[in-house]
Amino acid sequence: MHLQLKKSLSDLRSKKEELRAVFDLAGNGISILNEEGMFIYANKFFQTMMEYTMEELYKESCISLSSPEYAEPSRTAVQKAIEEGIVERFRKICVTKSGKQINASMSLSYIKSTNEIVMITSDITEDIKYQDDLKRRINQEVKKRTKQYEIMCHQSRLASMGEMIEAIAHQWRQPLNSLSIIIQGLRHLSNSESFDFKLLNEIENEMINKINFMSETIDDFSNFFRTSKEKRYFNLLDSIKDTIRLVDIQLKNENIKLTINIEDGVNLEFFGLENEFRQALLNIIDNSLDVLVSKKQHNSFINIDITQNENFIELNISDNAGGISSKNLQKIFKPYFTTKKEGNGIGLYMSKMIIEQNMKGNLSVRNSQNGAVFTISLKSKEMK
Ligand SMILES: Nc1ncnc2c1ncn2[C@@H]1O[C@H](COP(=O)(O)OP(=O)(O)OP(=O)(O)O)[C@@H](O)[C@H]1O
Ligand SMILES: [Mg+2]
Repeated sequence: MHLQLKKSLSDLRSKKEELRAVFDLAGNGISILNEEGMFIYANKFFQTMMEYTMEELYKESCISLSSPEYAEPSRTAVQKAIEEGIVERFRKICVTKSGKQINASMSLSYIKSTNEIVMITSDITEDIKYQDDLKRRINQEVKKRTKQYEIMCHQSRLASMGEMIEAIAHQWRQPLNSLSIIIQGLRHLSNSESFDFKLLNEIENEMINKINFMSETIDDFSNFFRTSKEKRYFNLLDSIKDTIRLVDIQLKNENIKLTINIEDGVNLEFFGLENEFRQALLNIIDNSLDVLVSKKQHNSFINIDITQNENFIELNISDNAGGISSKNLQKIFKPYFTTKKEGNGIGLYMSKMIIEQNMKGNLSVRNSQNGAVFTISLKSKEMK
């Protein structure tokens, strides 16, 4: 009996030593606390991490080694471990002997038979630093991208304004010519001996008509470029027609036939930012117009086909200007990609951003036998 006891004791001792050796080799802080959180034991890792010797640690507790704001939560964690048996990944800031702060994650386990708590401490300062650094870098990148996007929007607006002025010039050239001829006629009328009031009336009406037309053009354009951030219900067909009106005279001057085909039963009501949609569409039509004009294509056309495909409404905008070379097909949506002398290369980039980011749709391109086909695909779900 005595011998057996002796052997058990020696077994126990060697087990204890084994355990110590394991503790001391561990890559985490392991400590044993009494029910008040005072240190009974701490492995080498913990001692080095906290810069205390074991002798010194006997006088400390896991509460006294916490930074002041974590003293109370540490006390609670010890209490919770005693009551519930375990506390996992409790995060706090510890203060080392020299005053260095350490971000730590602790797990506590209560051993009922000895009334002790085993505490495992991991130093997560580097992880947190890394995460903070990552967060900071992501924020910086997001800020940089937002800034870039704003610059592009601004450039795109400037380009659109340039195009707008050009289009107004086109629309006004004819009525301005007429007005100047009418005014010359007026002088002639006042020089003649018998003043013809009937003719004067006609001239007056004609002049008012021309001026109204010019003023409507300005209204059309300024409505078009007004940026509204409010989503509304709008009719896609009306929106397409409004857009085409802006380039109508150019299309006529260049003999380009524009046709809209709508499949039966397509729901054309849409909910979103109408001006942005019109802007995206105008950029695509403008490009077709540019290429058709530069290629001096005969029987030039632009077709807009609208179809509904289950949950999607599709707008195919196609022309017969010969298409896009396969080398460029991948690049045309990239910012600043242009093949034009005076091009900015942001038209299609903006269209893609509007359709895909803002309207959650899709904008893609392919070549047909005749020319480029741009497909705007919008979720019908967004329509209601
Ligand atoms: N319908 C088309 N047919 C052939 N090439 C096209 C067509 N649409 C676009 N492209 C090509 O895609 C390029 C990029 O178009 P994008 O609208 O982004 O820029 P851009 O028209 O060159 O300049 P801007 O910023 O003034 O619009 C064009 O330069 C042109 O080479
Ligand atoms: Mg363009």
